Amino acid sequence: MSEDDLPEPSRSPGEDSGSQGAPAPEAGADPAPEAGAQENAGSPVGRGLSRRGMLALLGGGVAGASIGVAGTAAVVAATGSSGEPGAGLSYPFAGAHQAGIVTPEQEHLHFAAFDIREGLGRDDLIELLQDWSYAASRITQGLDVSARGAFDGGPYLPPDDTGEATGIAPAGLTVTIGFGRSLFSTDAGEDRFGLAAQLPEHFTELPKMINDFIDRGRSAGDLCIQACANDPKVAVHAIRNLTRIAFGRAQLRWSQLGYGRTSSTSTSQDTPRNLFGQKDGTANIRAEEPDRLEEHVWIGESQGPDWAVNGTYLIARRISMTIEVWDGVQLGEQERVTGRDKRDGAPLSGGGEFDEPDFAATDASGALLIDERSHVARVHPSNNDGIRMLRRGYNFTDGNDDQGRLDAGLFFIAFVNAPERFSVVHKNMARDDLFIEYLKTTASSVFLIPPGVSEGGYVGQQLFEAG
Ligand code: HEM
Repeated sequence: MSEDDLPEPSRSPGEDSGSQGAPAPEAGADPAPEAGAQENAGSPVGRGLSRRGMLALLGGGVAGASIGVAGTAAVVAATGSSGEPGAGLSYPFAGAHQAGIVTPEQEHLHFAAFDIREGLGRDDLIELLQDWSYAASRITQGLDVSARGAFDGGPYLPPDDTGEATGIAPAGLTVTIGFGRSLFSTDAGEDRFGLAAQLPEHFTELPKMINDFIDRGRSAGDLCIQACANDPKVAVHAIRNLTRIAFGRAQLRWSQLGYGRTSSTSTSQDTPRNLFGQKDGTANIRAEEPDRLEEHVWIGESQGPDWAVNGTYLIARRISMTIEVWDGVQLGEQERVTGRDKRDGAPLSGGGEFDEPDFAATDASGALLIDERSHVARVHPSNNDGIRMLRRGYNFTDGNDDQGRLDAGLFFIAFVNAPERFSVVHKNMARDDLFIEYLKTTASSVFLIPPGVSEGGYVGQQLFEAG
């Protein structure tokens, strides 16, 4: 993608950014050529990085006097010319819903949660979200985070962009930004950003489940970013650079890498396998099912509040899998635990992978073909008031423990229109599922994913304009 395709926006001093009360970046904060007004047309986010965003890239304030010095504004566009499969694939950042939910699931994940620095207020938060939206609108198109990018800031400044994704981006990158419950009200009831009145009534925490060994340091946070791409370096580049832009305003609380999708979110995709070797994602909600998405995934008008309509809730659970134990289990037992044939993913009641399981089917002796305590039986909608979810998880392998066992598992991500609906299914699984013996959940988070960004807007704008 060339710079002509996605020109660098610029702003005049004092120009209204469209936000409520966010300080306007100073002139030249993200330098653009003189024809700035024309360049702004068609920009996904009609502003450059704020002065603070630029300062963060410069290392917290060094060389501040140089900020207003116009660079060449020549964007080094990463065109995906490396020849890697899918390198040139790009998804728009703007839309009714955020990307990275029904987008065909990419192969790699870098997920991060952040806490806002103490003492900062509502305007700071808005400005950070504007900066992230601006940078995300660029990197998802294969551009550097700013006009000066990796190479055009001159020899005397640290480069704005760290540069490692040049030539391989955008690789289908999506950046999905979410809000933790603590953004609205802390555990101590503090309303840091004047948002407490906007807390959706459905934004609840998950109850503790059997086999939960939750590490709070790896859970929750004020904000989250899910970066998915078909190249791992592109996903990591996104989190690295957005973290850098947030320097001094929000601090990385925890992050998780994931490799190999464990679900399909489009009928165009094959069903992948998880680390237990099972086909995973067979009975998932897919992009091509708008009615199911409306019913189970997108926050609707009847659920509200208005600002959150078309958003969703992201549930993230880091589930360690005792793979060494599983690997010693007989194939027949592995299939009984799941309720599906391991080779082709078909339900044990018969048929093909995508045929509905028949939970009443029996063998000649009258025994159920699908065990009542199998995973599929416990989590199937017929056993859970019809509740479905859109699963979009990834495998992880984070080294090993001191006994030589891999620290591996599934970074489970699901999207639902109310966390309580997830809890219904999960309680059913935690209580009886044969699977539980092989799993241990070490982190758990719920984030609200606000609706999509309009052209020129920023993530969460509807919330801040709601009051
Ligand atoms: C490491 C943990 C887990 C593994 C390895 C796993 C694996 C699987 C497998 C192999 C299937 C069958 C294929 C498919 O339809 O995708 C499945 C289905 C499913 N899983 Fe899990 N799962 C895990 C955790 C969870 C959790 C925590 C939930 C949420 C409570 C969940 C909800 C579901 C649902 C809703 C289905 C589809 C059921 C249906 O409609 O037939 N899974 N899972």
